[in-house]
Amino acid sequence: STPMAVPSVSAATAAAGTTTSPAPTRTAGSSGAVGTSRTRLEGRAKVTGAARYAGEVPFAELAYGWLATSTVARGRIRSIGAEPVLAMPGVLAVLHHENAPRLKPGVGMMGPDATLQILQDDRVPHVGWPVALVVAETPEQARAAAEALVVTYDEEPHDVGFSSGHPGLHTPDGGPRARTDTEKGDIEAELAASAVVVDEEYTTPEEYHTAMEPHAAVARWEDGRLEVIDSNQGSHAVAQDLAKLFFLDATSVRVRSEHVGGAFGSKGLMRPHLIVAAMAATMLDRPVRVVLTRRQLFSMVGFRPATAQRIRLGAEPGGRLRALDHDATSFSSTINEYVEQSAQPSRVVYAADALRTRTRVVRLDVPTPSFMRAPGWAPGSFAIESAMDELAEKTGLDPITLRLRNEPEVGPASGLPFSSRNLIPCFEEGARRFGWTDRDPRPGTRRDGRWLLGTGMAAAAHSAGTAPSSASITAEADGTFTVRIAAADIGTGARTALTQIAADALETPLKTVRVKIADSDFGPAFLAGGSMGTASWAWAVTEAAAALREKLALVDQIPGEGTTARADTTELVMAMRGQERYAFGAQFAEVAVDVASGEVRVRRMLGTFAVGRVVNPLTARSQLIGGMIMGLSMALHEEGIRDTASGGLVNGDLAGYHVASNADVPVIEAGWVDDPDTYNPTGIKGLGEIGIVGVAAAIANAVWHATGIRHRSLPIRLDRVL
Ligand code: MOS
Repeated sequence: STPMAVPSVSAATAAAGTTTSPAPTRTAGSSGAVGTSRTRLEGRAKVTGAARYAGEVPFAELAYGWLATSTVARGRIRSIGAEPVLAMPGVLAVLHHENAPRLKPGVGMMGPDATLQILQDDRVPHVGWPVALVVAETPEQARAAAEALVVTYDEEPHDVGFSSGHPGLHTPDGGPRARTDTEKGDIEAELAASAVVVDEEYTTPEEYHTAMEPHAAVARWEDGRLEVIDSNQGSHAVAQDLAKLFFLDATSVRVRSEHVGGAFGSKGLMRPHLIVAAMAATMLDRPVRVVLTRRQLFSMVGFRPATAQRIRLGAEPGGRLRALDHDATSFSSTINEYVEQSAQPSRVVYAADALRTRTRVVRLDVPTPSFMRAPGWAPGSFAIESAMDELAEKTGLDPITLRLRNEPEVGPASGLPFSSRNLIPCFEEGARRFGWTDRDPRPGTRRDGRWLLGTGMAAAAHSAGTAPSSASITAEADGTFTVRIAAADIGTGARTALTQIAADALETPLKTVRVKIADSDFGPAFLAGGSMGTASWAWAVTEAAAALREKLALVDQIPGEGTTARADTTELVMAMRGQERYAFGAQFAEVAVDVASGEVRVRRMLGTFAVGRVVNPLTARSQLIGGMIMGLSMALHEEGIRDTASGGLVNGDLAGYHVASNADVPVIEAGWVDDPDTYNPTGIKGLGEIGIVGVAAAIANAVWHATGIRHRSLPIRLDRVL
């Protein structure tokens, strides 16, 4: 496959919408919307404030809930001093484990989720666990009362200390999704026979989503239905769980989330704010809003757990891998077993005679971790892509040459064919654009005043799945079309992309299509997650469009009434089997390291990706660049620091938890190569997450090239550098 001329521009010009676009491919009945850059349809509403988020929608008689959270890491609630608080101005109720509505146990989107069992018993599993909800007439009154609430505890000894040597590490109890271990060949024999060996441990810290919009919900009863406006990644799934949790009929719950201000995985599952809002609305028979504080987001909505990963590589002198062993450990809470699948990239990216991956987890007295952008793939790629750079150094090979020598024919762990694999064109095109070819491999030899300069690269991969979704389209009497799908636009541009998809599938101009999203009444649709949203929804919309066109050909539309067709892709998706399906990419970075302070400045980054069909080049590029910025942030800044004495975070706010700011972000280019893939007929692979994958390794490898010093622990803080 030859890389096509990739349109690739800096973040600044991409934002200005001046990009050229690759030609659209394989669009049945294309009217040319797919493949062209479009600004977000709701962009004006967002920047003018007309778009209302869950925390802002006005309601008459609205009451405000404020959560009080535990200050101890493990124990039981001894007492909750509700009486004095109930006498405070405006206070309407104090909900806690002794008076809150009972919830159905065992509910959860991916199996029983104990984080949903809020205010059900006196058990405290971590610092920051919700112990009471104070409801008042104003948010200020609710906050003052929640802060005045005295809760006492019977404290128990806790353990929040994670390392790869923790005695509690065990094989995850799994479930069908968790493929914890794989083994092919004799890893020890191949390592022993290898001329060159790398054997190192890589660690990554707790990382937090820090979406701009905090989690918020307002719940109310209206005409016998629980009506909710929430900030989430999938209204239909949240509505289903909410109904179950409150012993309600699924049709009695409606959840909407029209605008969502960032999520990164933290809004994929139902979260406590919504549950307590629904409880209070039920008890008070009033609309109740609960907005989490920035600090509460650090203990209640998930995070990426710390990882410790041992990589052992054994290679022939020419770089061909005889052995690849990836041993990934991370932690979860005592109440749920979330497993960070960091060994995933090592099952996909390189061929090796012997390949072993292992995944272990330890249960600690900490909040429950969860999916965060490219779960597993992002920390896992830091380990394996750093180790590959170390192997390149030891074998004296160029890092790209080493990778080309280990390109697999089929899935290295599975033996299954790839639906498409255009990683090599990403290396070639990326190297050409970045100017990699003339690179002097020697570390610590380039200087610009007080700065040492270096470049590094890494491969990236991310799963590209498709999940069942449903959509309906109405041909309105006025000649326009209304698409309804419970998709979520978490800031990505999904609404715009789906409008482009629908316009082409209906062979109608873009302006005649109106896409309504994020309403559970629209029926089942997959989450905006797993890089699967657009692919899954686009397929459902395409099927609905085909069904509608067929229907319109058969019926004479009655003036004044619409004709509606629905489609559900469940059976189509279930029939898809037997291929390895991934997006791929190549990440490049140039860094400068201050020889006096150790500060690392990223001077430029470039990512070239193979992500299937690109629907909207403008928002696609923004997604990729956004992911790369998050990767820069992961490499250099982000680190939740847990205090072993209290069990809490010492930097659980945006003052202490550093995320990359504008001043940290250099010129970033993101582009893609042609990547035809027909596993899913839309040809879309999804690109919400792959942008972050590999970036931390590319930067760490560049820091080594600049300084000659390896960094195997993130973040690469300036006090660690020299
Ligand atoms: Mo994303 S971490 O798959 O919501």
